[in-house]
Amino acid sequence: MVATVALLVTSLGLIPQPIMASYGFANNCEVRGARLSESFLGMYCNNHNTAEYLYNWTWIDLNLCVSNYGGRLIPKKDGAFFRSCKPCSVKLNGSASDDHVTLNLGCNCKDVKGHTPATILDLNTLIGNDDGAMTCYDHRGNKTWIGPA
Ligand SMILES: *[C@@H]1O[C@H](CO)[C@@H](O)[C@H](O)[C@H]1NC(C)=O
Ligand SMILES: *[C@@H]1O[C@H](CO)[C@@H](O)[C@H](O)[C@H]1NC(C)=O
Ligand SMILES: *[C@@H]1O[C@H](CO)[C@@H](O)[C@H](O)[C@H]1NC(C)=O
Repeated sequence: MVATVALLVTSLGLIPQPIMASYGFANNCEVRGARLSESFLGMYCNNHNTAEYLYNWTWIDLNLCVSNYGGRLIPKKDGAFFRSCKPCSVKLNGSASDDHVTLNLGCNCKDVKGHTPATILDLNTLIGNDDGAMTCYDHRGNKTWIGPA
């Protein structure tokens, strides 16, 4: 059945896409001001008012986006990583002057042996920005005008 569908898709020349192919938030969110509060990631992101370069503060629960796969952080819808990954932090990848700074999530995640190896995930591969709200898969974070002080 799966093979049939794949064949059909191939013969139509369509490439299967995830429901929401949104990622690359580091291009238009202020990853340098990112905060991680428990499993919630927050920062300022540009909204559609690009003419005036306006932005909103947005939070998204990374439990909706990330999973623990045998001690390794992986992108996964509703992955609920935080049950078995602690502590966690976010770190920039790139220098301050770099235009292509991205944001990594780093945690210690429980593996099958009960060890907690350090693991990192480039959040730019799975988090998008939709009009000032961070997104992953078909989930959309909330947004407010001003962020926490
Ligand atoms: C940092 O980014 C570079 C290129 O953008 C990538 O090759 C490298 O693997 C990243 N390092 C980490 C620790 O994510
Ligand atoms: C957005 O989500 C965060 C984290 O759950 C919460 O603290 C905040 O009150 C929410 N803001 C709005 C406007 O719903
Ligand atoms: C998002 O930010 C704009 C200004 O950049 C503001 O007018 C708007 O009210 C904000 N949206 C929310 C939900 O706070």
